[in-house]
Amino acid sequence: MSRRKQIYEGKAKILYEGPEPGTLVQYFKDDATAFNAQKKATLDGKGVLNNRISEFVMLRLGEIGIPTHFLKRLNMREQLIKKVEIIPLEVICRNVAAGTMAKRLGMEEGEKLPRSVVEFCLKRDDLGDPLIAEEHIHAFGWASSSELDEMIAMTLRINDHLQGMFGGIGINLIDFKIEFGRLPLSNEDGVVGHQVILADEISPDSCRLWDRETNKKLDKDRFRRDLGEVTEAYTEVATRLGILKPQS
Ligand code: C5P
Repeated sequence: MSRRKQIYEGKAKILYEGPEPGTLVQYFKDDATAFNAQKKATLDGKGVLNNRISEFVMLRLGEIGIPTHFLKRLNMREQLIKKVEIIPLEVICRNVAAGTMAKRLGMEEGEKLPRSVVEFCLKRDDLGDPLIAEEHIHAFGWASSSELDEMIAMTLRINDHLQGMFGGIGINLIDFKIEFGRLPLSNEDGVVGHQVILADEISPDSCRLWDRETNKKLDKDRFRRDLGEVTEAYTEVATRLGILKPQS
């Protein structure tokens, strides 16, 4: 790992140059941050769990035809991914009011939304990833109209699939955040266009997951809100998904 060239270091992941052109290695750290990195901790084993959970989710989404950056898992903490140009947006999809939406709109956490809602935030750490309107995306050219349509359509399909997948193991998908990237498409003439594909990760760091019976939080809110047993909750998600063997 240390021999590879580091391309980027984020709050929870590091990207290294991959073995082939057009590939990267995504390394999952144990670091956890919240509130735009004002709160920090190291949670033993979180990176290993997120690597496995994100692999599982990306593979399931690939099976239903969602194009993703995931190629293969390399080891406990690393996966090989396609190199993309990240679209500078965080796409959030919500089924139940929680977090910033509940706060912003004065709703009770846990109130079911009349329908799934897709929101966009600008990826800007220095501004705290502000909520933006589609109008801003068009006006500032952060994504083209067709890219935006594709992102919204994919987000709703991902939501449908994940709601079913988690529902099957007794977990309610409250909301989640995803990111997309542009994959260059080339032929003998060079780069001839781009395909929008799912990038980054999908894990309990980026989703709200509540136990269906008890509403117990099985996600990063355990860290944000000092509820304790963070990695235990992530382990429970991995176990229910069948990634880890149940502890006897
Ligand atoms: O905080 P908020 O309610 O806006 O978060 C909505 C969803 O997006 C949550 O599942 C949260 O974990 C995720 N999120 C994220 N990264 C961010 C902001 C939100 O993964 N920077």
